[in-house]
Amino acid sequence: MIDEKNLARLSFPGAPKIVTKGLPGPATQKYLETAFDNESMARGGGRFPFVMAQGKGATVKDPDGNLLIDITAGVAVNAVGRCHPRVIKAMKEQMGTMMHAIDFSSVKRTDLAKKVAEIMPGSLKDNCITYFTQSGSGAVETALKFVRKITGRTQVAAFHGAYHGVWLGCNSLTTGDQYRKGYGPFAPGIIHLPYPYCYRCCFGLKYPSCDLQCAKYVDYVLNTPYTGADDVGALIIEAQQGEGGYVPPPQGYLEIVKKACEKHGALYISDEVQAGAGRTGKMWCIEHSTVDPDMVTWGKGMGGDVPMAGLSMRKDLAEKIDDHSQPNTFAGNAVSSAACMTNIDILTENDHALIRRAGELGEQIKTWITDAAKDIRIIGDVRGRGLMIGIELVEDKESCTPLNQEAVGNMIGGMLSRGMIMVPCGRYGNVFRFMPPLVITRNYAKKAVDILIETAGDVAG
Ligand SMILES: Cc1ncc(COP(=O)(O)O)c(C=O)c1O
Repeated sequence: MIDEKNLARLSFPGAPKIVTKGLPGPATQKYLETAFDNESMARGGGRFPFVMAQGKGATVKDPDGNLLIDITAGVAVNAVGRCHPRVIKAMKEQMGTMMHAIDFSSVKRTDLAKKVAEIMPGSLKDNCITYFTQSGSGAVETALKFVRKITGRTQVAAFHGAYHGVWLGCNSLTTGDQYRKGYGPFAPGIIHLPYPYCYRCCFGLKYPSCDLQCAKYVDYVLNTPYTGADDVGALIIEAQQGEGGYVPPPQGYLEIVKKACEKHGALYISDEVQAGAGRTGKMWCIEHSTVDPDMVTWGKGMGGDVPMAGLSMRKDLAEKIDDHSQPNTFAGNAVSSAACMTNIDILTENDHALIRRAGELGEQIKTWITDAAKDIRIIGDVRGRGLMIGIELVEDKESCTPLNQEAVGNMIGGMLSRGMIMVPCGRYGNVFRFMPPLVITRNYAKKAVDILIETAGDVAG
């Protein structure tokens, strides 16, 4: 049952608690230096001045014993919290039974494929075929390959601000200079369209008086001669943008985009890697709209503490894919499958109680932040759904100029020293993502908001 007392048991008590003279402490510093000496810093967060030694629910400890509140959830991964006891139990049982089955069927993997079909949105529910991978990038990469075979078409549409992974195919969809500069050329046939970033509308309009011109523009590009978009096999979109700045589309946008796809004969792929698995208060973020996707890519929170991701597509589409055309040695690992099954159980039991709570708690958190931010110059926008909340920092509310990176760094450092990890995203690196594990207690959520506000007040001066 979900009550605050039960949730509190999933995290370390007493957070935040800083026991060293400032962060990073000496043991942590040593680990950081070893990492710099031995690991490629091309990875994400390599320079983040924190080392995880223990994780429990919505809390983490570093090697010095500092205890922090975790508002990253491993970038939306630890939906049911770190080291959930039921997930550990399921994994332990599976470890003693069977772990690796090459790419053959295993009992757990097969059970999982069925379970995934049961929880898919729209007409994919009980009517889809899943291809398992170990990462969101792998799921999107596979979607790109399959779309070619299924549709016989050469183009794919994606969006400004999109992030769909960093392998060469999916990186072609991903925007963001740091992922692209010097790494091209990318896959041919990719078209980028405007995502509805209302706070910084590229058409200079305001919702709702804009009448969703951005969505109409997507329809225009896909369905008008002489735009160059004449052979689009699929459109891939995040139902709430993640790395692009935690940007939810306005009501009605996705429906217009979906209709534009249908008119063109293009498949609609909902990339739910970050926004799925209950994060936004629905199992799948697309369920905030009436859109029925043709394919769903998923990952992160579905596996939780272990790698598990996939591409789920309608059965009639999957029939067009040749057997043995996409082998994958570690796909559907039985231990990962056991963890994923348990994550799904925890998220969906009692009529999706944990997910519904995420929706409600998210609204409360947005209100706390918005109310406190009225007098804080650098908090420009608070947005998002459920526990996928973006806080956009600016030089001041009037100009909306993105906050400079030095001040963003001071925010990260300030929150860290107060006992909380939170990571930025966004096109200007100035949006903080409030995305705790769904099992965070109300008490810890409020403490996290207080730390955010106190730090922002300090940085604003
Ligand atoms: C929407 C989306 N798609 C794909 C990916 C890539 O997932 P992974 O990092 O597991 O490869 C991400 C990662 O952040 C994502 O947010």
